Amino acid sequence: MLDGDVFLLAIMKKRTGILTAGGDCPGLNAVIRAVVRRALADNNEILGIKNGWRGLVEGDVVPLTRASVTGILPRGGTILGTSRLNPLESTETLERVKQNWEKYGLNALIVVGGDGTLSAALDIWRDHKLPIIGIPKTIDNDVRGTDFTFGFDTAVGVVTDAVDRLHSTAESHHRVMVVEVMGRHTGWIAAFGGIAGGADVVLVPEHPFKLSRVCELLRHREEQGRAFSIVVVAEDAHPHPDEDFLGGELSEQLFRHDRLGGIGTVLAHEIEQCTGIETRVTKLGYVQRGGSPTPFDRVLATRLGVKAYEMVLAEQWGQMAALHGNKISSVSLEEAVSDLNRLDEEIYRVAEVFFG
Ligand code: F6P
Repeated sequence: MLDGDVFLLAIMKKRTGILTAGGDCPGLNAVIRAVVRRALADNNEILGIKNGWRGLVEGDVVPLTRASVTGILPRGGTILGTSRLNPLESTETLERVKQNWEKYGLNALIVVGGDGTLSAALDIWRDHKLPIIGIPKTIDNDVRGTDFTFGFDTAVGVVTDAVDRLHSTAESHHRVMVVEVMGRHTGWIAAFGGIAGGADVVLVPEHPFKLSRVCELLRHREEQGRAFSIVVVAEDAHPHPDEDFLGGELSEQLFRHDRLGGIGTVLAHEIEQCTGIETRVTKLGYVQRGGSPTPFDRVLATRLGVKAYEMVLAEQWGQMAALHGNKISSVSLEEAVSDLNRLDEEIYRVAEVFFG
């Protein structure tokens, strides 16, 4: 039997769920650990929802203890698993979310995700009044309302390392190396990776490019005695409409579906044709999402996790933990999902100084 005070403490414990949804990214385990450790400091409980919203639809949950989060800080991926299931895809899925919420006695839910996941979180909070706090994550850095998302710095590190390595073959063989990077509809990874790696051209979705200009820059480099070049291209970079060398069908194939990718291969072919310089392509793909988070991402994820749990305690529902300057604060989910966070023009202009 529990004596009176202990019994009261037990029934007053807050039980908060946490889920990670959308594409995995480095720092997810750090954020889970931070939420759990902050909750345990107040003797509260955290339930891990498996595989994003799917776990709440299917009732797949696990209690997270100190032991569950030991040693996970440096690990990539997410111990909870993830999925891209949208809980609002049908009235049935939403009903099941509500039923499982009741069944597991949740007081609150921390949703760690990108713009799609956070949009669903906003709708569920606003329209169905389930108390939710958001945490932004993505390698793409395309979530508004926060200066950076964790995962981004690690992805930029991968791109930088790749560009450094690609310089060896580019220089030795006098080739153009085209490097295709992720970023969905924004050019953050391409611009940061390009600047950090010393790319000679960076192509981003925010600035549709002209192939003739790209070739001119590369030929000019060759004339100046620099017979190799590195071109970093974001997966959604596309040609300027005045000069759509891709043609209708190819353009459809590359850009009119959910999964981006392939522009690098097409571009490398076109560059070789117009410059006559031997050109190769490297698509970095999922390598950018994997592996151990950088110290910056570990610290950011940890700070956001602690803050998000404190927002649960303060009942700041419908808000998201965010980085503003050097401080962690909060912003409404409404603001966060109102639009994409597109590449900062100042960053692009810096990258542009080094073109050619
Ligand atoms: O949002 C992260 C990201 O890696 C994007 O850069 C990329 O376009 C997309 O996810 C790939 O998604 P999936 O994992 O569904 O192939």
